[in-house]
Amino acid sequence: MFMKTAFFSLLALTAAVSVPQTDYDVIVVGGGPAGLSALSGVSRVRRTALLFDNQKYRNAPTREMHDVIGNDGTPPAVFRGLAREQISKYDTAHFKNVTVESIVPLDGDFSSFAVTDDTGEKYTARKIVLGTGLHDLLPPTPGLREAFGKGIFWCPWCDGYEHRDQPFGIVATLDNVLGAVLEIHTLNSDIIAFTNGTRNPEYEAKATAKSQDWEKQLKAWNVTIDNRMISSFQRIQDGAKHRDDKEDKQYDKFLIHFTEGKPVERNAFLVDYLTNQTSTLPYQMGLEMVDGKIKVASSMRTNETGVFGIGDANSDGATNVPHAMFSGKRAAVYIHVEMSREESKSKISKREGEISRRELEEEANNAIGDNLDREWERAQIQGSFQG
Ligand SMILES: Cc1cc2nc3c(=O)[nH]c(=O)nc-3n(C[C@H](O)[C@H](O)[C@H](O)COP(=O)(O)OP(=O)(O)OC[C@H]3O[C@@H](n4cnc5c(N)ncnc54)[C@H](O)[C@@H]3O)c2cc1C
Ligand SMILES: *[C@@H]1O[C@H](CO)[C@@H](O)[C@H](O)[C@H]1NC(C)=O
Ligand SMILES: *[C@@H]1O[C@H](CO)[C@@H](O)[C@H](O)[C@H]1NC(C)=O
Ligand SMILES: *[C@@H]1O[C@H](CO)[C@@H](O)[C@H](O)[C@H]1NC(C)=O
Ligand SMILES: *[C@@H]1O[C@H](CO)[C@@H](O)[C@H](O)[C@H]1NC(C)=O
Ligand SMILES: *[C@@H]1O[C@H](CO)[C@@H](O)[C@H](O)[C@H]1NC(C)=O
Repeated sequence: MFMKTAFFSLLALTAAVSVPQTDYDVIVVGGGPAGLSALSGVSRVRRTALLFDNQKYRNAPTREMHDVIGNDGTPPAVFRGLAREQISKYDTAHFKNVTVESIVPLDGDFSSFAVTDDTGEKYTARKIVLGTGLHDLLPPTPGLREAFGKGIFWCPWCDGYEHRDQPFGIVATLDNVLGAVLEIHTLNSDIIAFTNGTRNPEYEAKATAKSQDWEKQLKAWNVTIDNRMISSFQRIQDGAKHRDDKEDKQYDKFLIHFTEGKPVERNAFLVDYLTNQTSTLPYQMGLEMVDGKIKVASSMRTNETGVFGIGDANSDGATNVPHAMFSGKRAAVYIHVEMSREESKSKISKREGEISRRELEEEANNAIGDNLDREWERAQIQGSFQG
């Protein structure tokens, strides 16, 4: 019995290149808008797929999601729930609410992977999509985390409009204040920048390196600077209760306290902190990273064949829901065509030396009809306060 199986698989190997036999065509890690969009894309062409979601969503703290057309003001959980419900009608689509612990590439003519979850269960798939997201690295300042996404926010497009024309604060190092002002000044005019001790020669030099006339510009926008060290944020009014939905206004109110002197009252704050990968998988898998993001080409391919990076976690500099959906959809298209190309190759070609995986990727790119990689590289901008 064993001999027979071994004999036939040897025959298959010598006769033609073979498509790996796996549990699923695609495994998607991440149930945010990026992963759900990738799952939708592969499901619509009947690729079998399993999506893992351990329920750590970046926008979990926010009241409502904005700037997602057709869903302006929808709570993120409602949005994801509707997506799951709609995708569930495709019987090739599957979901698991568990954490993926490891992903290891397997040998073969074409890419395939062994995936293990935190219950020890194992799965195999031909392609991997990482839509594992970022999380915000907030300092432990009392009152900050509790108010994040609820009056204290990082993205003008997400939460700015509901706090327009209100006494406003920017919390950032001195060199990042002007960038924030240029994004928010159409919404707020009474702005104080809280620079938390960074108004000093080092940061003044950084600000000047970014923009010679930063000080003049801040004056022109009526921005004053308070350089005291911040000790806490105290909520004195909750915009979830004090809101005018007809006018799209939320009236949060805070006292910002300092290590010395009197606190200052502000309705809302734009803050600027770093982010990090939500999952350790990109590091564990040894993927090429750039500034803490998974390096991807315009096809959303990482530097490991068969692995795609989408959404906030990838390197293309945009971190918002429309980008997450775009990148997930784009990966789905490349994945489907790449697998189809592998399948047609296995149908027609005899084994003749090495098969170049890069060549196949290139062919899939050409079949789809565009190769934007050069422009993509140029467009990879990094900056703070990106929507
Ligand atoms: C407070 C706040 C408000 C925001 N508001 C808006 C807004 O109004 N409009 C907008 O466009 N954008 C908004 N954003 C940005 C938006 O949240 C992100 O751009 C978006 O969530 C990115 O989607 P994603 O799918 O890449 O990642 P996420 O939504 O963060 O999803 C990551 C997924 O990966 C899963 N995951 C990670 N690791 C594993 C693992 N090992 N195993 C299994 N699952 C795993 C997580 O559980 C989760 O399902 C906001 C962000 C914040 C912080
Ligand atoms: C998995 O999580 C989703 C989203 O939170 C939820 O709707 C669903 O009921 C969960 N499924 C299981 C089997 O727990
Ligand atoms: C203020 O600066 C200190 C010292 O650099 C830092 O530890 C703290 O997290 C900063 N506070 C805020 C609210 O950014
Ligand atoms: C300019 O800023 C000051 C101090 O923050 C504020 O009192 C004043 O209302 C602002 N002016 C306008 C036109 O918003
Ligand atoms: C970012 O995440 C990686 C992987 O979990 C970790 O090794 C690293 O220390 C984190 N960096 C910061 C600044 O938190
Ligand atoms: C991807 O890039 C990383 C970092 O440069 C490198 O360590 C790794 O070997 C590369 N992987 C492949 C498959 O080339």
